[in-house]
Amino acid sequence: MSETELKYLIEQLPKAELHLHLEGSFEPELMFEIAKRNQLKIKFESVEEVKEAYKFNNLQEFLDIYYEGAGVLLKEQDFFDLTWAYLTKVHSQNVVHVEVFFDPQTHTERGVPFETVLLGIYKALEKGQHDLNISFCLIMSYLRHLSEESAFKTLEQSLAFKDLIDGIGLDSSEVGNPPEKFEKVFKASAEAGYKLCAHAGEEGPASYIWGALDLLKVDRIDHGNRCLEDEALVERLAEEQMPLTLCPLSNLELKVIDRLEDYPLREMMKKGLLVTLNSDDPSYFGGYMNENFIQTALAIKLSRDEIITLAKNAFDASWLTEEEKLKRKEEIDEMR
Ligand code: HPA
Ligand code: ZN
Repeated sequence: MSETELKYLIEQLPKAELHLHLEGSFEPELMFEIAKRNQLKIKFESVEEVKEAYKFNNLQEFLDIYYEGAGVLLKEQDFFDLTWAYLTKVHSQNVVHVEVFFDPQTHTERGVPFETVLLGIYKALEKGQHDLNISFCLIMSYLRHLSEESAFKTLEQSLAFKDLIDGIGLDSSEVGNPPEKFEKVFKASAEAGYKLCAHAGEEGPASYIWGALDLLKVDRIDHGNRCLEDEALVERLAEEQMPLTLCPLSNLELKVIDRLEDYPLREMMKKGLLVTLNSDDPSYFGGYMNENFIQTALAIKLSRDEIITLAKNAFDASWLTEEEKLKRKEEIDEMR
């Protein structure tokens, strides 16, 4: 397959994105616009200066800038515009289903009401379903650098809007904030009817992935790269067909890997893992879904069949009904 054919295939494939932080899709142009209308100053003078600052040596360096950027979001319209910008962008890339994270505590800690954040996001997702035919799930993530008590408070705030939220995630600074810190609040979240996922094994050790499985009882692992350090864990993940939402460009930008050419994706597929490709924080890491697919496919020379398998995996790993999954995979087969 030539490079042109590979790009065409990836662009045409109907795709699902399962690991996307809405606050991480905040493009500098929109950040300036929203800061201006909210009469807030950001510490950068221009879009170019912002992009220049997006050079990270690890997860924490990125998070510091990510929380600062999110600090200009105040009104329901701001959260709507953020979400709508993401949806129109991925619509142009043939993404047909999204399961997106938002971090309520990033905003409620600054005094923005939970309801403002949620309704802005939800109204945009509904419009995306209606106008762009993008189906969605919404995942509320607890910030793991904060206390379990704070997560419990967030869970409580969410209950009035339970019907609008599908699942719970766990993100932010991983090392030093192991899964066991959130065991009780995950149990309570499951009892409230939420599905569960958690970031694990991005920077943290393989033991955090065991913890996410056995203590948090997640339905999906976000990242999970470091499972490869533990043969028994890989066997368990493969046997259960536990989805892993990988984010290659994020891993590259946060120095989880040195080179995309060394990305262990094929190795993971050969071991029978249910892996998917996602963008994580596209505005910060230089690429949405197609860029993640294309750059990875070129770097490790993915075949047509491997690319198609990855696209199908995302529907299998999603929270769509079995019927919807089948329909989406049939649409892919019809492309051949
Ligand atoms: N890891 C942890 N927390 C995050 C990330 C990530 O990649 N993106 C936004 N919050
Ligand atoms: Zn993430």
